[in-house]
Parts: sequence; C-alpha cells; structure tokens
Amino acid sequence: MHTPSSLHERRPPKFRALWLAACALTLMTACTDRMATSDDRFGRSGEVIAMSGGEGGARYACATCHGVRGEGNGFDAPRLAGLPAGYLQKQMQDYATGLRPHEVMRDVARFLDSHERVRVANHYAALPPQALPGATQETVAPSTAALYAAKCQQCHGAEGAGTELGPPLNAQPAFYLAQQMQDWQVAKRRNDGNHEMLKVAQALNPGEVRQLSLYLARIPSRPPRPDR
Ligand code: HEC
Ligand code: HEC
Repeated sequence: MHTPSSLHERRPPKFRALWLAACALTLMTACTDRMATSDDRFGRSGEVIAMSGGEGGARYACATCHGVRGEGNGFDAPRLAGLPAGYLQKQMQDYATGLRPHEVMRDVARFLDSHERVRVANHYAALPPQALPGATQETVAPSTAALYAAKCQQCHGAEGAGTELGPPLNAQPAFYLAQQMQDWQVAKRRNDGNHEMLKVAQALNPGEVRQLSLYLARIPSRPPRPDR
C-alpha cells in the first residue's frame, strides 16, 4: 500500500485522524471480503467445497451426491457426516492415487489439494451423523447380529459405530456397503494397509454380504466419539 503522507501533511490534524480511520476501515473490509469469498489466497473453506465444489467446479460439489447434510444418497454414495476426519482424508488420498479405484471420486479428489482435503474432511466430520432411511423392506436374518459380532465388531465396534481400527459402518446405504465388500473380494479396493478387509471380505459368501449390509444400514447413526 502506498503511504499517503504527502496528502496528510497538507490537511489539518483532525482530518488526518479521520483519513486514517477511513483507511483502516477500507483495509479491514478488504480483508474480511477476502476471507468471506474464500479465494485462492486463503483457500476455499470446507463448507464452500462441499456446497459448490473445489477447483473442478460445480459438477464436483460434494452435496450433489452426498447430500446437503452429508447424509449420502441412500444408494451408492455413502454418508460422510460424522465419519472420522482422518478416515475421510485417507479415502480422498486413496481415490487420487488409484488404490481405491473409482472414476468420479478420482476426479473429485484430484481437483482438491491437500489443504482442501483436510478442510472438507473436517467439515464433514463435524456434521451430526445422519442418514437416509433404507428403501428396502427386506428382512434381516436373526443370525446376522451374531455374525457381525464374531467377524466385524472387533474393528468396527459395537453397533457398527467404528473404533480406531475401522470406520463406522452403521447408517451407510446397504447398496454401498455391499459394493465395498464385493470390491474387496475381487481386490479392486485394496487401500486397507494390512489387507485385513481383503481377507475378511473374501471369507464371506454373497448371502452374508447382503445380510450384513442390510443389518448395518439399519443401525441408526450415533454422534462421533469425542476422542476421534
Ligand atoms: C457425482 C457424485 C459425487 C460427487 C460430486 C462426490 N462424490 Fe464422493 N462418492 C461418490 C460415490 C458414488 C462414492 C462411492 C465410491 C466407491 O464405491 O468407492 C463416493 C465416496 C466418497 C468417499 C468415501 C467415503 C467412505 O465411507 O469410504 C469420500 C470420503 C467422498 N466420497 C468424499 C467426497 C467429497 C469430499 C466430495 C466433494 C469434494 C465428493 N465426495 C463428491 C459420489 C460423489
Ligand atoms: C481387522 C480389522 C477389521 C475387521 C475384522 C473388519 N474390518 Fe472392515 N474395515 C477395516 C478397515 C481398516 C477399513 C478401512 C480401510 C480403509 O482405510 O479404507 C474397513 C472398511 C470396511 C468397509 C468400508 C467402509 C466405507 O465407508 O467404505 C466395510 C463395508 C467393511 N469394512 C465391512 C466389514 C465387515 C462386514 C466386517 C466383518 C465381516 C469387517 N469389515 C471386518 C478393518 C476391519
């Protein structure tokens, strides 16, 4: 900013004070404007990315597919609301590198830089978990709860609410959950560090995949654990 000192010297002192005040105000407004519009200097906020997309523009606005409250679309796009920020960030990283192959999410993730991924992950992690009610009335076999407790609970927690070893699964769309297990069965998704999910999924038959997906989709979402 240029210094308007030559101008000041020609003005009486009280005008000088007014001038400085006006100057400070202009500067402040300029700064707040920059933050509000979240341009490239400060970066887009997580919420702006969620609602209007990142560098890739509106077609990659998360809300279009994941819902305005991060609740998912009840079908192939999962709920993001209330999932751990670290998990969300890791998934975007894995989509970008292809460890988790998916055409749409690859492009979405590649248009976000690492700062934007952190911001949008934090935004969704902080939203209260909510989901769309499942569309199917198909009944869940009573034995499914025991199957879940024996094979999944250790990592995914009681009621599928997640632990430090595995993400929450409750209140995710049944179609989405089944898709993930099928992707692991054929080693398409292979972003779990020690391939624990690969082994777990390959040991399930199609009926078990379907039952576990329906069972988990119907467990209501819970607020995230305070320590995650
Ligand atoms: C055009 C639709 C679409 C848009 C836009 C979109 N997503 Fe997705 N997203 C999906 C689908 C479909 C999946 C599931 C893909 C799969 O099966 O791996 C997904 C999966 C994800 C996952 C994995 C979640 C989990 O539980 O593992 C994350 C994280 C994610 N999206 C974040 C985002 C963010 C952040 C944005 C916006 C910057 C976004 N998505 C925009 C459709 C979309
Ligand atoms: C030894 C730990 C472990 C066990 C046991 C386990 N999982 Fe997982 N699961 C994981 C981890 C870790 C991930 C996340 C991997 C990643 O980073 O993408 C995961 C992810 C998933 C996902 C994808 C979630 C999402 O939002 O995309 C599904 C679905 C899933 N597990 C289902 C199951 C089911 C059903 C069982 C039992 C039959 C099970 N898991 C048992 C560790 C485990």
